[in-house]
Amino acid sequence: MQTARVVYDPDHGAELAFAGKNILVTGGLGFIGSNLALRLIEIGAKVTLVDSLIPEYGGNLWNVENIKDRVQINISDVRDPHAMKYLVQGIDFLFNLAGQTSHTDSMTDPYTDLEINARSQLSILEACRKYNPLVKVVFASTRQMYGAPQYLPVDERHPLGPVDVNGINKMAGEWYHLVYNNVYGIRSTVLRLTNTYGPRMRVKDARQTFLGIWIRRIIEGQPLLVFGDGKQIRDFNYVDDVVDALLRAAESDDANGAVFNMGADDPITLKDTAELLVRLNGSGTYEIVPFPEDRKVIDIGDYYGDYRMLRSRLGWRPATPLEDGLKKTMAYYREHHRHYWHDSHLN
Ligand SMILES: NC(=O)c1ccc[n+]([C@@H]2O[C@H](COP(=O)([O-])OP(=O)(O)OC[C@H]3O[C@@H](n4cnc5c(N)ncnc54)[C@H](O)[C@@H]3O)[C@@H](O)[C@H]2O)c1
Repeated sequence: MQTARVVYDPDHGAELAFAGKNILVTGGLGFIGSNLALRLIEIGAKVTLVDSLIPEYGGNLWNVENIKDRVQINISDVRDPHAMKYLVQGIDFLFNLAGQTSHTDSMTDPYTDLEINARSQLSILEACRKYNPLVKVVFASTRQMYGAPQYLPVDERHPLGPVDVNGINKMAGEWYHLVYNNVYGIRSTVLRLTNTYGPRMRVKDARQTFLGIWIRRIIEGQPLLVFGDGKQIRDFNYVDDVVDALLRAAESDDANGAVFNMGADDPITLKDTAELLVRLNGSGTYEIVPFPEDRKVIDIGDYYGDYRMLRSRLGWRPATPLEDGLKKTMAYYREHHRHYWHDSHLN
């Protein structure tokens, strides 16, 4: 089997690298995985999605409704080494996105987070080492492992200091990829994602990003709840821009063994984000409320990332201003909300 070594061609985007290639996306029925799958199908890749569809997580078959006849869907769990042994064989690119993503759940059920975000990553990489050592892997990591920033914007050299169990286990997951790259030559690139939003994100409850539940609440005519004083700064990436970064990371062999921050040009406070949503929606309200205790203890304060390395080495920059991305996201959920939540009772 040949490795897919293709230089990024700005005229043809990612097409040259991925057309006709076998691609496996773990967590492929989730938010980012399904948006990636849509793009990969568009550019002619052969795509298999593996997802456990655990109800508390972001997997949703509706996410791939438009391409359901053109992708292979394998409902299995990355914790199952037998499934992974089978699935990694013959794959050119593995986008490793399956994860337990709730920070609060990682504190109430730390062992499940450990199993999925750390232990499974090791078995996925072991499957690659034994059965497909030429595969290229891209791992979706998180800025959460920096903890409370010591300076802003946070670059990749910022010390790591996770404030929750999820951050620790994602950090381990990330390091397994780097070690397997460095020791065994399993080509791996790590992207540390920041708050990602867009169509197909999980909006059912507040388990994942707050922006998801805000979008649901504003569409339902409920007030948005802003925790703390609302002055916390965040950076947001629209999902299409994250998909673009994942593709660039996959196709560049210069990126093997590297860790890249994602980031945005327009960091914004939570209060301003709430005001923006209300304005774009044409109606709505928000309330500044005290931090729930379980969130306060793992909050990181202000954060925004320095993505200059991703820009200089892979030519990536965020193309979608927050306002445009939020408009598209709200339009999606206005049309498809019945596939994402079933009643007006907020849980
Ligand atoms: N969305 C963000 O803002 C963000 C930020 C930082 C990092 N990330 C990382 O990006 C990745 C994708 O996140 P997302 O936002 O698309 O979340 P998501 O919950 O929508 O997608 C994750 C998918 O993984 C699947 N999954 C979970 N455990 C599994 C298992 N054991 N076996 C098989 N499938 C399993 C879920 O069913 C879900 O479909 C995650 O690894 C997450 O840690 C996301």
